[in-house]
Formats: sequence, C-alpha cells, structure tokens
Amino acid sequence: MKGNYRGVAITGSGGAKPSQVLQNQDLSQIVDTSDEWIRTRTGIRQRHLAKPSESLSELAARAGKEAIAMAGITPDQMDLIILATSTPDDLFGSGSKIQNLLGANKAVAFDLTAACSGFVFGLVTASQFIRTGVYQNVLLIGADILSRWVDWSDRSTCVLFGDGAGAVVCQRTEEKDNLLGFEICSDGSQNACLNAPYCPTPATLTSEVSVSKGTYEAITMNGREVYRFAVAKVPEVIEKVLFRAQLSVEQVDWLILHQANQRIMDAVANRLTIPPEKIISNVASYGNTSAASIPLALNEAIRQGKIKSGDVIATSGFGAGLTWGAAIFQWR
Ligand code: COA
Repeated sequence: MKGNYRGVAITGSGGAKPSQVLQNQDLSQIVDTSDEWIRTRTGIRQRHLAKPSESLSELAARAGKEAIAMAGITPDQMDLIILATSTPDDLFGSGSKIQNLLGANKAVAFDLTAACSGFVFGLVTASQFIRTGVYQNVLLIGADILSRWVDWSDRSTCVLFGDGAGAVVCQRTEEKDNLLGFEICSDGSQNACLNAPYCPTPATLTSEVSVSKGTYEAITMNGREVYRFAVAKVPEVIEKVLFRAQLSVEQVDWLILHQANQRIMDAVANRLTIPPEKIISNVASYGNTSAASIPLALNEAIRQGKIKSGDVIATSGFGAGLTWGAAIFQWR
C-alpha cells in the first residue's frame, strides 16, 4: 500500500529532569517514613523535584527539543504539539507557551489531561491526526510537576511522586504502520480513588448571584484501591491490544509501564508471563512522574542502546480518572 498510506512512525525521543534530587533518607526528615519502607513498598530511591524558579513549560520544551533533534527534523517542521500534563503553568494550558519556546512556528499546540495515562492517550491522539493525513509531524510531550500539588505532610502520598518531562516525535510514514494496536479506557465511578479536586471558596457578588473562587486541593489517594485497579486492568488491556495487533506475549521485546511502583510493574509482568529482563524501569531514580514517566523511561532505554530498531514495545499508562490504556508500537 505504498504511496498514500498513512502509517505512524515514532522517530525521536527526549527527556528532561529537574536538577534537584530528594533521597528517601531526606524524606524521613520531613515525614514519619524510612528508606526501607519506601524501597520495599515502591522500589523508589530518589526523585527529581522542580525548584520554585523552574517551570513546566521549560522542562517540557527541553524534552521536546531533544526528541525533535533525534528525529532529524527542525522545530519549524512540527505540525502539532500535544502536551500531556495535569500540572500546567497556566490553567488555560501550557502547550502554546512550549510551541513558542521551541520556535515551532507552524505548529498548533494544545494540552491533554489524562493524569498518568496522559502519554498513552496522547500517543493515540497524535496517531489519529497522522492516520487521517491531516498532519505529518507531531511532537508529544508528557510532563508533570506533581510536587506542586503534593501534601508534603502526608506520608502516604508524598513519598511516591517526582517531576520530569519526556517526549516523542511521531511522523507520517508511507512504510509499515509502527503503531500496532491501542486501547484507552475511563471509569469515572472510581474517580475518588485518586484526585486533586477544586476547592471552592464561595464569593457573593450580589444578593442573588454568587460564584466560587479557590484553588486545588493536594493529591489524595486510596493506595490499596489504586494498586488493585492497576494490577487487574493493566494486564487485561495489554492482552486485548496484543490480540488486536495479532501478536503473542513472546513477541514483546520490552514492557514499559507507567512508572508508579516497581511492585505493580512486577505483578503485571508476572500475570502476562513477561520475564523480568524485559521490564524497563527507572522508578528507583524518578518516582512517579505521571505523564512523563513512560517517555522518560523509553528515552533512557533508547539512548542506552537497549531498545533497538524494530523492537516491539508494549506500554501501558494508568492513573487518576480513573484512566488506563495500552499501546504497542515498534521503535523506528
Ligand atoms: N512510610 C511509612 N509507613 C507508611 C507510609 C510511609 N511513607 N505510608 C503509609 N504507611 C503506613 C500506613 O500508615 C499503614 O500503617 P498502619 O498499618 O499502621 O495503618 C502501613 O504503612 C501500610 O499501609 P498500606 O497503605 O497498607 O501500605 P501498602 O502496602 O498498600 O503500600 C502503597 C502503600 C501506596 C505503596 C501501595 O498501596 C501502592 O503502591 N498503591 C498504588 C499507588 C500508586 O501507584 N498510585 C499512583 C497511580 S498513578
């Protein structure tokens, strides 16, 4: 089907992390916890945290720039920039700011919010624009600064999260479509398991009209419920996508899950009978960086030479919403 065939190729990756690092030992000075508790329950050893002077836009743009360079194109060739984030610098979104920082003058940019599933939802969104022939070059960035929204006195959540950004370039190809399958899902009935809701303060404007002003509350989570949800839904959705892609589990070269917790990654791999050496994990160094976690792990594995051309990668994101999804693709 050469000529007008519109397949998706993932041709570049990038990552960016804040320079500040907080070790587990440091956390034990802030809340009643220990390195041993955090390591054994989550696999996390440290996390990178953005300084007050650092912005989400700047972090995301750094990751985007790296991905564009690896793809061998220039920012002015980008048609679309999708920023997957739950923590924009601006309530109206940060995509356009990143477009400007990158000098991607031709690109349209928007934010996409699907919490820790944001990268997978973004990959699926990017591929729709490519497959319909609307756009040639799409930059997808997953970036989050959850440290802004963590309650640093709540030991059950503050030990889990970190900040970062990761990016990929998706391009139209006339060769084989490298996005082999996907599925994305939502279940709002479980929304209360993990959220950071708007916290209104009523303000009376006139005797008949009142509105609310306010901010967002810190992240709250039912850890056990989220754990149960992830370990049940992630293997299920990956199996479904493998079936759609007509692939067997043995044909998966790498499993890159949302980097929430090593125990979740191990349990999912175990259910799928994927051997531990195929799991790509950097949760020990970053913690849970939400929408950034999958592209950060992907980028590191590509740059370390682990992931090679043609390798089949099964990826799955899951998190607040609740949302979850999986995508299987081949590296360029
Ligand atoms: N340090 C020390 N003790 C802690 C602690 C911490 N940071 N956080 C919680 N505890 C305590 C609890 O208070 C509880 O004490 P208690 O038995 O006296 O009440 C005990 O440890 C066990 O808590 P529990 O919640 O049962 O631990 P757990 O084994 O379920 O592990 C998580 C907790 C959060 C690590 C686990 O539930 C998990 O990984 N959930 C998924 C979370 C996630 O990935 N969320 C993001 C998805 S995008």
